[in-house]
Amino acid sequence: MQEFARPQSLLLQLALTSFVFLSFVNTGNAGITSTFIRSEWPSVDIPLDNEAFVVPKGYNAPQQVRITQGDYDGKAVIISWVTTDEPGPSKVQYGTSQKGYDLTAEGSTTSYTFYKYKSGYIHHCLIDGLQYDTKYNYKIGQGDSSREFWFQTPPKIHPDASYKFGIIGDLGQTYNSLSTLEHYMQSGGQTVLFVGDLSYADRYEYNDVGLRWDTWGQFVERSTAYQPWIWSAGNHEIEYMPYMGEVLPFKSYLHRYTTPYLASKSSNPLWYAIRRASAHIIVLSSYSPFVKYTPQWVWLYEEFKKVDREETPWLIVLMHVPIYNSNEAHYMEGESMRAEFESWFVHYKVDVVFAGHVHAYERSYRISNIHYNVTSGERYPVPDKSAPVYITVGDGGNQEGLAGRFIDPQPNYSAFREASYGHSTLEIKNRTHAFYHWNRNDDGKKVATDSFILHNQYWGSNMRRRKLKKHYLRSVVDPITNY
Ligand SMILES: *[C@@H]1O[C@H](CO)[C@@H](O)[C@H](O)[C@H]1NC(C)=O
Ligand SMILES: *[C@@H]1O[C@H](CO)[C@@H](O)[C@H](O)[C@H]1NC(C)=O
Ligand SMILES: *[C@@H]1O[C@H](CO)[C@@H](O)[C@H](O)[C@H]1NC(C)=O
Ligand SMILES: [Fe+2]
Repeated sequence: MQEFARPQSLLLQLALTSFVFLSFVNTGNAGITSTFIRSEWPSVDIPLDNEAFVVPKGYNAPQQVRITQGDYDGKAVIISWVTTDEPGPSKVQYGTSQKGYDLTAEGSTTSYTFYKYKSGYIHHCLIDGLQYDTKYNYKIGQGDSSREFWFQTPPKIHPDASYKFGIIGDLGQTYNSLSTLEHYMQSGGQTVLFVGDLSYADRYEYNDVGLRWDTWGQFVERSTAYQPWIWSAGNHEIEYMPYMGEVLPFKSYLHRYTTPYLASKSSNPLWYAIRRASAHIIVLSSYSPFVKYTPQWVWLYEEFKKVDREETPWLIVLMHVPIYNSNEAHYMEGESMRAEFESWFVHYKVDVVFAGHVHAYERSYRISNIHYNVTSGERYPVPDKSAPVYITVGDGGNQEGLAGRFIDPQPNYSAFREASYGHSTLEIKNRTHAFYHWNRNDDGKKVATDSFILHNQYWGSNMRRRKLKKHYLRSVVDPITNY
């Protein structure tokens, strides 16, 4: 397998080199379709009795521990976990390293049924009023079965606060998923921006749907117990299954995963916004109404007005279905949201839009198609300095496998595309610069494949507002392009 992979990555190196060359000589519009083919694990879920899903020992021990941001600005977290023997307390004991567990918070418990499956007792506990940039330890559960974890709060909201986000999508619970998760943890990201499709439990029937939500919760605990995952929902969260009497969309997801939606005045946990370090992050729901006058549309209209690039220079949008996708899988599915929101993204100079859904990696140039309307005939996406970069990272590694067929020839809006599993990181340095990497899972190693320096759309382009001297970076991180 290794011998097989080497010449392929050489080929890629060559392709990358020629791209750098091309972008020097002309328009920079020659996109790359990477020919790399990795030898993947079979796309099957890890068996139930595998150690990846092992539940902690002890009576009523907390399992599936996860945290997410609990407020608008990062001074709160919501800690969630499941107990199975009895409800038990929803109490969290916490404190900074110096002071031990001197603080407590009380949460609440919920549960649900899905077909004949009865969920465990799902606890959600908000702890707020935290200090910025501080390590907290926390303890949940009772007696011998109690468990201890920790997390680090983000720095105070500040335009130059540096922070490293990871971006993962369509993860599932296969050996490829495990590889993606382990590689992400090696990348040292501080918070995950998750672009939807979590467990793929809906690929099962009857009671196994609930069971596979539980295994997934246990599978990701190694990361989710220690750092926030910012959730957005995909089609696999809908679980509309009338044949087994389940017709309430997002039932499992909404019981298990909470979001701080009220903090951004949203009326629904499926769309919301948070601010963290120097970033303003907007989470959209591809599978909730978003046409004009619907709650999501009205909310986004108001939320964009609240963005203050002087405080949070980085404006990031998450959604499940990509707006720019040149894969045969899910081609054009993002068109309706593009028609509704693309002009806002350009108007507000969104830095980057992350999506999942398509099980491959793809990155666009800064382009827009906002002059198209049904009579104008302006049908091509054109280069647009105010537009976001669109990145699809639906390549977490779920049981449906890779989407290997790209539309040929590569459309001129597409900068780089490759059908491999992996994850991305966005390392914000200050108000003007962020380093972006897409890290392919390369048979046990993490290989940074597509990387570039993202220049901030607000501070990087408006000379009058920007008091700082302009820096041109000659980077050592193997940059491909500058934006
Ligand atoms: C549609 O495009 C045409 C041609 O560019 C333009 O004149 C017209 O104003 C557009 N209509 C709308 C509703 O944007
Ligand atoms: C793509 O090609 C079309 C047709 O030649 C052109 O009008 C458009 O500006 C190009 N778009 C980009 C992003 O280069
Ligand atoms: C921002 O970060 C980049 C990359 O590390 C650096 O080159 C640049 O000098 C920084 N700008 C300021 C104003 O610190
Ligand atoms: Fe999806």
